[in-house]
Amino acid sequence: MALKATNPTNTNAWSRLQSHFSDIKDIHLKELFKNNPKRAEELTVLWDDFYVDYSKNRITNKTLSLLIELANELNLDDAISKYFEGDIINKTEGRAVLHTALRAPKDAEIFVGSEDVIPGVFEVKAKIKTFTDSVVNGLHKGYSGKQITDIVNIGIGGSDLGPAMVVDSLQYYKNHLETHFVSNVDGDHYQEVIKNLNPETTLFVIVSKTFTTQETLSNANSIRDWFLQTMPKQAVANHFVAVSTNINSVKEFGIDEENIFPMKDWVGGRFSLWSAVGLSISLALGYDNFEKLLSGANKMDEHFKSTTFDKNIPVITALLTIWYNNFFNAESEAIIPYTQYLNQFATYLQQGIMESNGKRIDRNGNAVDYQTGTLIWGEPGTNSQHAFFQLIHQGTKLIPTDFIGFVDSLHGNKDHHDKLMSNYFAQTEALMNGKTEREVLEELHASNLSDEVINMLLPFKIFEGNKPTTSILIQKLTPESLGKLIAMYEHKIFVQGIIWNIFSYDQFGVELGKKLAKTILEELNSGSNTVNHDSSTQNLIDFYNK
Ligand code: F6P
Repeated sequence: MALKATNPTNTNAWSRLQSHFSDIKDIHLKELFKNNPKRAEELTVLWDDFYVDYSKNRITNKTLSLLIELANELNLDDAISKYFEGDIINKTEGRAVLHTALRAPKDAEIFVGSEDVIPGVFEVKAKIKTFTDSVVNGLHKGYSGKQITDIVNIGIGGSDLGPAMVVDSLQYYKNHLETHFVSNVDGDHYQEVIKNLNPETTLFVIVSKTFTTQETLSNANSIRDWFLQTMPKQAVANHFVAVSTNINSVKEFGIDEENIFPMKDWVGGRFSLWSAVGLSISLALGYDNFEKLLSGANKMDEHFKSTTFDKNIPVITALLTIWYNNFFNAESEAIIPYTQYLNQFATYLQQGIMESNGKRIDRNGNAVDYQTGTLIWGEPGTNSQHAFFQLIHQGTKLIPTDFIGFVDSLHGNKDHHDKLMSNYFAQTEALMNGKTEREVLEELHASNLSDEVINMLLPFKIFEGNKPTTSILIQKLTPESLGKLIAMYEHKIFVQGIIWNIFSYDQFGVELGKKLAKTILEELNSGSNTVNHDSSTQNLIDFYNK
């Protein structure tokens, strides 16, 4: 049975949310805290090593129950079962969406059609483990007998962003293998990466679900040509492996079947780091850490599947997005990790969230008449405080912000960590409370300025506050907790898609420009046009060609 396909704005809950919105939209968060002394406890979820405090959001208990009513009216429960049970919920591509199966335990049974996919998942995991161990332990040698020192992941989109983000985020746990990522078709990218590499000691992991992606194939071909300048053809077997669903094309590229790590079409690119696409993660961190990442994600899966919505972290955080996006008309959400390790986290989530929910056609094939996918952006704190926080504090836009922090630092420098975390706490407090006219006046009077200067400065120094934030405080950044955090956002994406009545797992929007680029490339190569371009595009092409 297909997912329910109801326009959310036609539900009873939506109408009730609308009138509730008029009631509470102007209430200041400070007042909400004053009205309910238990607010912080009531609007917090403690789960495992996660402390998720969403009390600094512009909601009341009633908002939450109405949002949950909305989820119930739209059969979220049933959709969650379908998601985990391998139903074809990616209808437009005719596929199941089963990245959760990649981290399920061995005794799970998950069927796609009549096939239980779990034995296949464990077969590939065993292959990843054996290969990882042999490279890390130095048993898998380069063609000339030297040990592998460097790994180059060649892929783009989901075949790059996930592994790159995880390896960077968990670099504290890394082994001796240097890991590099080549993604952009810009030739300068791969050339910068390979310029200091020794082909004798480098392993190239070509990652492409389809093995048709222009960027990845161009980079793989150019890098293989570079490799063959100094190495014989037989050496390719020791130095090139691939991850793909398209076994035939990989073989045509010249990679032996035993060096192919297969993946299934029910793994979406942007959710694929748990599959063989995570080979570079396993190589860089060791297989045990890869397994811990998977087990963390599986714990979040269990939490999501089995927790009532009022205590369910992905459900609550997704409903908050709906609340701001569809009632407050907020257009974007910021994600601010207070750890430099999660430097690439927002970039990674941009693909996950925007490629999934950037859709304007609903599950009935009709154009939606309400807002869907939000813009996602962010950078680690405290750096971002010195970059764009001005706009969040005093700009004209409402930007709900996730603050991700960790109780323990990895290197254990308490002095620095206290400074970092005091900023983490201070920012959410400042964003909520702001600074009133009275407070500003008191401060200005204390600084002995003339009344004229005080009156001039006053409006600029006021902060209205009432800026919503969600604090996600985790004990420590580990492979397991990162697995949980990524899975939390994956399920948040799913819930949003269900409520917005869109298909979250296709990405047709990336096709149009890709196809046109192919045509233009042919034109650039042949020197003659095959299509009529608009005058702007034509002039630009002419300027490039001259
Ligand atoms: O950007 C579109 C997309 O299909 C992504 O969804 C995917 O992660 C990426 O291209 C790479 O695709 P592939 O792994 O097939 O090379």
